[in-house]
Amino acid sequence: MSQNSDDLITVLDAGSAKTRVLVAEIHDGALRYRAHGSAISAGMRKGVISDLHPAAKAINQAATEAEQMAHAVLANCVVGVGGPHVRGVNSQGGVSLGGRLREITREDVRAAVDRARSVSLPADREVVHLLPQQFILDEQPGIHDPVGMIGNRLEVNLHISTCSASAAQSVITCANKAGLEVLDTVFEAIAAAESTVSADERELGVCLADIGAGSTELVVFFEGAVAHTASLPIGGDHFTNDLAVGLHTTVEEAEFLKLQYGNCVVTSVPSGSEVELAPGENGPARVVRQRYLSEILEPRARELFHLLRENLRQGGVLEALGAGCVFTGGGSRLMGLLEVAESLLHVPARIGYPVPLSRMPEELIQPEFAAAVGMLLYSHRTRVLRAAEDQGLRAKLRAIFAGSV
Ligand SMILES: Nc1ncnc2c1ncn2[C@@H]1O[C@H](COP(=O)(O)OP(=O)(O)OP(=O)(O)O)[C@@H](O)[C@H]1O
Ligand SMILES: [Mg+2]
Repeated sequence: MSQNSDDLITVLDAGSAKTRVLVAEIHDGALRYRAHGSAISAGMRKGVISDLHPAAKAINQAATEAEQMAHAVLANCVVGVGGPHVRGVNSQGGVSLGGRLREITREDVRAAVDRARSVSLPADREVVHLLPQQFILDEQPGIHDPVGMIGNRLEVNLHISTCSASAAQSVITCANKAGLEVLDTVFEAIAAAESTVSADERELGVCLADIGAGSTELVVFFEGAVAHTASLPIGGDHFTNDLAVGLHTTVEEAEFLKLQYGNCVVTSVPSGSEVELAPGENGPARVVRQRYLSEILEPRARELFHLLRENLRQGGVLEALGAGCVFTGGGSRLMGLLEVAESLLHVPARIGYPVPLSRMPEELIQPEFAAAVGMLLYSHRTRVLRAAEDQGLRAKLRAIFAGSV
């Protein structure tokens, strides 16, 4: 088997329900699907790893499956972070460039971003992303890339996405235990947006919400930049648990019923339709009205979108969704969910299917793979950007040395 070479990218999405590993190769500068593996997650509680050993075992299982399919040893990966410990804040900062007007360099941009990020974060917080929203050069706002422009004072509006340092460290430790070095971390909603949301939607204003098993991660883009990120403590498993409690049945059967007959709009279900429940240990098989399932599911869906609406309102972005909402994650597949979302958020909603990479199997073009596919796209893009920056730096150094002889 060949080593995880430079032209392979591996990503790890250790979700509350499923642990997914996805591998792509860079072919002619573009990404091409190479392999994937998945395992039922273990050792997770409320979106964070609570027990290292079983979590690492699930990662190992998914990575081994991907490795065998890829015919390569996977040595490193990029991991997703999500869960209720993720937060986003907006910040502003800037630098003066001396008395005279001069050309803005990449170092000036870094200094302005450093100044903006120096907001005091609690000790247990780790920065996941520093996302410039706009640069302001000598009071002229709306600049996306000021490098090469002429000015005197450079300011930046920055979105800072953070997570619990210990929660992030647990994912990294588990990946390490499974033999994977972690190169980078990506917020799952940002990753899911990468594979499902267009540049036009980001410009007009869009909310991407990744409805997983344990939580819903979200990101809002406006005028092409990240305006807001958050995590809500409701995911698909809350719907399942409600059904299990309401029907006095097991979580396993409730999950089956949700997938098979679940619809979170009561009026969409024919009133005469019935569903048979598996017989209990001693008792006979039970029959319930299918509408009864919806009477349990609908309030949970409404709660989720009330929470989302309130979160967007508090983040000041509720009115910024010109292109509406995009939902990813397995939880988005519940029938009727878009209808409830549209009626409570008053914007159009759609499911986000990840853009297919070349050779990617159809089974991966599903909303629950949006985050993993997006992580691949994100890693590829950051690699290309870093390479371009390195090249720029090398060219500069060459010019300096050429000038010094
Ligand atoms: N067809 C479906 N209808 C309704 N719910 C579904 C369907 N398919 C999957 N789900 C739900 O999606 C959830 C799993 O989604 P996903 O695989 O995106 O979660 P995860 O990434 O493991 O979790 P998280 O992102 O919260 O860490 C489960 O709650 C599951 O019941
Ligand atoms: Mg997920």
